[in-house]
Amino acid sequence: MLITGVTGYVGRELASWLLDKEVSFRGASRNPLAAEKIFNDPKIECVHFDFHDPSTHAPAFKGVKSMFLTCPSSVNEYKPVEQALKTAKRCGVSRIVFLSVLGCEKMPFLPHRELEKLIVQMGFNYTFLRASSYMQELLKTPLKKIKEYRQLSLPAGEAQISFVDSRDVGQAAFSMLLGKSYSKDAYKITGKEALTFYKVADILSKELGVDIQYMNPSKHDFINEAHLCGYSKSYVEKLANYYITAKNGVSKRISLDAEKILQREPIGMKEFVRDYRIAFL
Ligand SMILES: NC(=O)c1ccc[n+]([C@@H]2O[C@H](COP(=O)([O-])OP(=O)(O)OC[C@H]3O[C@@H](n4cnc5c(N)ncnc54)[C@H](OP(=O)(O)O)[C@@H]3O)[C@@H](O)[C@H]2O)c1
Repeated sequence: MLITGVTGYVGRELASWLLDKEVSFRGASRNPLAAEKIFNDPKIECVHFDFHDPSTHAPAFKGVKSMFLTCPSSVNEYKPVEQALKTAKRCGVSRIVFLSVLGCEKMPFLPHRELEKLIVQMGFNYTFLRASSYMQELLKTPLKKIKEYRQLSLPAGEAQISFVDSRDVGQAAFSMLLGKSYSKDAYKITGKEALTFYKVADILSKELGVDIQYMNPSKHDFINEAHLCGYSKSYVEKLANYYITAKNGVSKRISLDAEKILQREPIGMKEFVRDYRIAFL
């Protein structure tokens, strides 16, 4: 079994579940030594893998039957992943759990819908895990302004989003990879409620005991602010487009799929903020 994106929020959680259940697997990373240090467990073999470097694909897929596929935000179009999928097919990979995006059919600036179609066309036994926006995104681009100015600054206006904790996404991915009943289907992995960022700012304020205000910057201002914090322009542009598209209601859908798969309620925003309290202050 191969886990791509093993060092990401979802990949790490999935890896922890596998290790906890004594499952041996291969983890793919651009920096396998650093990845091995994170887990420090002989049950995981980390290999060098970069979607942009085709010479790393076949060695990573050798002997692999099942793969957890993540298309990282640094990959801006589907072509490098398509190339990897062709190699995977040649190497005998037959089953793919693909981490996709809720509403990707309405988001042509993301490669996920194209990749879903390709995976079906290429005849893999697939499961699509269409995740809503991770609560953990609050720990990325918005974090600096939350900490320094007590402002939550994202260009989403009144958009409602069914935020999901990436720990729940990782656990759902674990069930999908090991369960036999999830073939050839797509699952919407969402939180239990859809919230605006005004409401998220309220929850942050109450749980952290400080006053945090939601700011609704223009797309242009958001991209410049986030770029100054070190994020690449292409990444923050995609993020801005995601939040702007969310205003159409595409990201507010709530599904019971997560609850059925996890056999418990998904983690809520309050619980998430309590768990990550130190990171926000
Ligand atoms: N963020 C969200 O709210 C959200 C919501 C729904 C779905 N998704 C989807 O979930 C996926 C993961 O998103 P994310 O924001 O959690 O993480 P991410 O920053 O997009 O990437 C996570 C992983 O990708 C690996 N990676 C980066 N560039 C790579 C490359 N060129 N080749 C191979 N691996 C590479 C990184 O591993 P190394 O550094 O170890 O190589 C890291 O483990 C994306 O497809 C995203 O669209 C995200």
